[in-house]
Amino acid sequence: MTTANGNFNGIQEYADDQGLKLDWIDQKGEWGVKASVDGQKGLTLSDVQVGSYGDPPPQSDNQTGKPRGAASRPNAYRIGGYQVRTKSDIWLVNASMLYEEALQRQWSSATDVPWHTIRPLPDDIERAQCQLATFLTEVEFVAADVPGRWVASTSPDYFEPRMFLITQIMDESRHLDVFRKRALANGGGLMQRPNVTTSGVVGSIDLSRDFTEMSSRLHISGEGAVLSIFRMGELMAYNEAEKRIYRLAAQDESRHVAFGVMHMRYLAETEPDRKEEVHEYLDEGERALVAGNQNPAARDTAQSEALAILLGGGEKNFDEGYRKLLAIRKRQAKEYVQRIRSAGFGERFDNGRALPELMEYVRS
Ligand SMILES: [Fe+2]
Ligand SMILES: [Fe+2]
Repeated sequence: MTTANGNFNGIQEYADDQGLKLDWIDQKGEWGVKASVDGQKGLTLSDVQVGSYGDPPPQSDNQTGKPRGAASRPNAYRIGGYQVRTKSDIWLVNASMLYEEALQRQWSSATDVPWHTIRPLPDDIERAQCQLATFLTEVEFVAADVPGRWVASTSPDYFEPRMFLITQIMDESRHLDVFRKRALANGGGLMQRPNVTTSGVVGSIDLSRDFTEMSSRLHISGEGAVLSIFRMGELMAYNEAEKRIYRLAAQDESRHVAFGVMHMRYLAETEPDRKEEVHEYLDEGERALVAGNQNPAARDTAQSEALAILLGGGEKNFDEGYRKLLAIRKRQAKEYVQRIRSAGFGERFDNGRALPELMEYVRS
């Protein structure tokens, strides 16, 4: 038997004796690379982005599922049919770091939430909590369902953001289950489903045909709004269990939002011709942030009324709760502006393009 480099030292005779082919042994990608281990974090995905292995191509012609950097096999089936084959369509600088962080910060909705601290609540409070939990159960389903469709559509050459999306799917599954558990943990139950899938941003997330289009709607508009609410969870929690749920969910959401912001920043820097298109998505997202159905704090919805009851401490304090809800809307608007500036699209706040109603919240 010969290989690309002829017989190799001493192994040939053994291979012949054993009836082995060993013709794979000289087919390899770049050889001699050695990743160094960071003492504190262990061997991370960033650490193995060495040599050509850390260098995804600007365009991927990989339709066979070949791992990035491996030697190709000419007779491999074209199993992929990947839609995302342009790096800037999905890339961000720190996906591998966000992926590792996601792995390290997984938590259990069964055992990390002190469920025993939930005590019977007044009926109006319990109903409001269950209405909000019903809304969040459905929203979290969408937040896992949509990235799931993009995982198999992305070239394995861009596996870092692809694998981050897989961690997001796990996170959102846990969010779905933790809010479902809350609805069923205290004598209440699920309430009427909100109108989030047929209109507003959540509906259009499902319809996105481009990854950045989806990401701006999901990671920036949708999850950004939800993150601001989770961060104020102390104000609407009635026990340690609810506080913990909001705190742990916020930790995950901030990672998902960071993914969207960093992707948008990468796109702005590498494909400035696409900025106007992204501004269009943001126009739509701002309208939904103020008045749409995907945002529990948006006005005149079952979930915003439920929030006002939780924030005020019951139906009798609805007005007080509504004033606190306005504070949440302001926080949402301000955090949104910070994120968009950080993503490299801040010009919309300086040139008058941003929705005036949104800017009122920012200024007030
Ligand atoms: Fe979530
Ligand atoms: Fe999320």
